[in-house]
Amino acid sequence: MRRKLIAGNWKMNGSRAALAELVAIDAEAKRANGGVEVAIALPATLIEHAAALALDVAIGAQDVHAAQGGAHTGCLCAAMLAEAGATFTLVGHSERRADQHETDQDVRGKAQAARGAGLSAILCVGETAAERDAGLAAQIVRAQIEQSMPDGAAASWLTIAYEPRWAIGTGRTPMAADIADVHALARATLRDLLGEGAAQAMRILYGGSVTGENAAQILAIANVDGALVGGASLTAEKFVPIITAGASLA
Ligand code: PGA
Repeated sequence: MRRKLIAGNWKMNGSRAALAELVAIDAEAKRANGGVEVAIALPATLIEHAAALALDVAIGAQDVHAAQGGAHTGCLCAAMLAEAGATFTLVGHSERRADQHETDQDVRGKAQAARGAGLSAILCVGETAAERDAGLAAQIVRAQIEQSMPDGAAASWLTIAYEPRWAIGTGRTPMAADIADVHALARATLRDLLGEGAAQAMRILYGGSVTGENAAQILAIANVDGALVGGASLTAEKFVPIITAGASLA
């Protein structure tokens, strides 16, 4: 049985003052008492402070460099993030695939680097609006999973997040049937790559305009094992109802 994971992504938002929200979210995660896992990917500058405050929320990064160190100005390697207190990192978020031109090969290297330093990874995939309109969503998601899947991938340290790009930050979510279709396709892709047992164990999150209003419905869809939440993860007021929705399905 896959336990639901509610993961937040603060993107380039937040300050030390905003960690009061994290403390309130952490209290709710404690109340959920293991019925659901809660994680937040923070700006790197906040990881160390957040890790010292959070007891029941896993603290993570939003990106990691594929190399173990060296001449990469402005970048952070997995060991640095782990030392700061991160236990996981996002890799391949669509904003980085778009803004930093990250390829599936890059994403694969990042996931492997995370693993090498003992971090878990949430590997993001998802089609653009144009790709969906052209009927290519399934094909794109399958190819992204196949090409960015790291060596030795296992549910103990890897989670997939399906985030249609056109649903991120737009307030638009796919129809439930469309989410179900892509998640079934993602599960089948994992089966082809990893075998039945490993595929069944691995969590597949949905991301893109998840809110307290739609979380219960989305989290109840087959093969949706949690949510990756941007805007609605920034405050306890908005994030707690999503955690509660996840816990109520446990
Ligand atoms: P959103 O972002 O919840 O604000 O749509 C999701 C994400 O980018 O992970």
